[in-house]
Amino acid sequence: MATSLRIKTPLLATLLALCAASATFTVHAHGDTAPQAVDTHALKKLDGPLSENPYRGDAAATKIGASAFNQNCARCHGLGAVSGGIAPDLRYLPVGKEGDEYFAQKVRNGAIRNGVTYMPAFGSIFSEEAIWAIRTWLETVHAEQ
Ligand code: HEC
Repeated sequence: MATSLRIKTPLLATLLALCAASATFTVHAHGDTAPQAVDTHALKKLDGPLSENPYRGDAAATKIGASAFNQNCARCHGLGAVSGGIAPDLRYLPVGKEGDEYFAQKVRNGAIRNGVTYMPAFGSIFSEEAIWAIRTWLETVHAEQ
């Protein structure tokens, strides 16, 4: 009896710790597992693919982009784009047209090398409006390295 209790207690502790860890993960990763549709009907329609952000500074695009980022990108790039280290910190992307072009190209194509997907391609999932809404929000949290 006493022996089996001694064995069970650490096991239970481990299980509880695992549950706690996965519960924390679920909170942070909420809604992130599959690409989420982005409702952009409030935004000006775009004829893409564009290489410069047509929404820069637009409040509605910023709001939609923040939510789209947290649902689709934050699980790798961090909530609020503050990277936890598994993917680049997107606050450091250059602002303006130079950063726009690079950003859109990455989001459309993802990062796939030698058959390994480091980042999924969002080109067939996101509308042009969704891509630029995320970029609009991202520029509001830009930081210098
Ligand atoms: C599965 C994890 C994952 C998801 C989800 C993801 N990314 Fe990435 N992203 C990465 C990794 C890893 C890299 C670095 C790729 C490489 O090694 O070339 C990257 C690179 C990038 C880059 C280039 C950054 C640089 O400094 O060169 C941009 C821009 C980017 N991601 C934007 C996004 C956006 C926007 C989303 C959401 C729509 C997103 N990513 C979703 C993992 C992810």
